[in-house]
Amino acid sequence: MSESIFTYGAPGLKFGEGASDEIGYDLSQYDVRRVLVITDPGVAATGHPHRVAEQMGQFGIEASVFDGVHVEPTDASMETAIAHARDTGPWDAFVAVGGGSAIDTAKAVNLLTTNDGELMDYVNAPVGKGRSPDRVLKPLVAVPTTTGTGAESTTICVLDVLAQKVKTGISHPRLRPTLAVVDPSLTMSQPAGVTAAAGMDILCHALESYTARPFSSYDRKQPEQRVPYCGSNPISDMWSEQAMSLLARAFRRAVHHGEDAEARHEMALAATFAGLGFGNAGVHIPHANAYPIAGRVKDFHPDGYPAEEPMVPHGMAVSLTAPAAFRWTFEAAPERHLRAAELLSPDHAHEGPEALPSVLADLMQDIDIPNGLGAVGYDEGDVDDLVEGAMKQQRLLATAPREVTEDDAAAILGRSLELW
Ligand SMILES: NC(=O)c1ccc[n+]([C@@H]2O[C@H](COP(=O)([O-])OP(=O)(O)OC[C@H]3O[C@@H](n4cnc5c(N)ncnc54)[C@H](O)[C@@H]3O)[C@@H](O)[C@H]2O)c1
Ligand SMILES: [Zn+2]
Repeated sequence: MSESIFTYGAPGLKFGEGASDEIGYDLSQYDVRRVLVITDPGVAATGHPHRVAEQMGQFGIEASVFDGVHVEPTDASMETAIAHARDTGPWDAFVAVGGGSAIDTAKAVNLLTTNDGELMDYVNAPVGKGRSPDRVLKPLVAVPTTTGTGAESTTICVLDVLAQKVKTGISHPRLRPTLAVVDPSLTMSQPAGVTAAAGMDILCHALESYTARPFSSYDRKQPEQRVPYCGSNPISDMWSEQAMSLLARAFRRAVHHGEDAEARHEMALAATFAGLGFGNAGVHIPHANAYPIAGRVKDFHPDGYPAEEPMVPHGMAVSLTAPAAFRWTFEAAPERHLRAAELLSPDHAHEGPEALPSVLADLMQDIDIPNGLGAVGYDEGDVDDLVEGAMKQQRLLATAPREVTEDDAAAILGRSLELW
């Protein structure tokens, strides 16, 4: 029997300029006394996390800032944050101020200070043990400072497991933040390189959830088998379409004119919308490919990110195979691919499988995304390795609108070495 049910989950949301000034009040409604604010050094330097911590005093809440988050967290960096929280706890609530890196680290800290065991017990199998939390987590307020991941609404936390050289995650409905506070004024200081990469993440969230395998094409699940990602459905479609229209208006302006408050506002709205969409429908091929592309980085140092370590930032890693992926998925749902091209580039006529890839390549050139996997240090000889890493992401590939074989993945990755 085929599936007739889809699901939708979301945190409470407060959106708008100044929303981050009200977090002290919001937390006072949860009867909390001690709060740990979690951030990374770059975001700490903007002053936002300390400002958020200070206003809590008015409500009798004691807040302390931990600014040791690693940009693109690893198992080791999350363990450091967890150890800090355990040593200085108990905490009644957590506030993450930052991009996906800070928000995901806060999810892991919340999980491991409320439940027994260690990080790897909860990491998705086969990398970790895939255990589920049996206790309720503390309130977590997520305050994004990038316009990208949508991590403030999702049930996952992404990390790099260093010993196994893989990126993977922890996924459970209890990880979803209690409240998302999206204040576009906090995003104004994002460097252009971060705005571009994180913006490509928004775009791929919207495109992948819009073209995901429809929820009704799966076999009927039993209640205990339901997962947060149920495939494309009428509610996630609505969020994805709106996100694409906002990106069409604001993305290039936000990268090239970071001081444009209206563009920043629209990008924050687009990130929120796309997060609410993909957080329920799921993402597929570009995200599956992004895990090994980021995880096996050699010596690439992108503008706008900490210079100490090589990295391919998440949004950049996702975008590099998007043109080839959507060329390949076109035949599964031509009308959806053409509709997406039209939403992203409303002033042009669009036709055939090349329409969406060419809209993407044009945008990527304009905002200085590197020209394919070759430009971030990979060559033909790396394709087999990348295929192996992508094929391990079966949880994501299960949402693709066509079944992906190793040969298909090799063709998509090979075609992504150079994009224009
Ligand atoms: N949990 C999820 O649902 C989800 C979804 C997508 C991606 N992710 C993960 O999120 C991480 C990427 O997050 P991201 O793209 O938001 O970026 P990020 O958190 O890694 O931050 C990128 C850089 O921008 C800086 N920065 C952030 N906000 C700033 C601001 N307002 N002003 C100045 N500098 C600022 C940071 O200091 C950092 O150097 C990756 O680890 C990725 O895997 C998680
Ligand atoms: Zn993403």
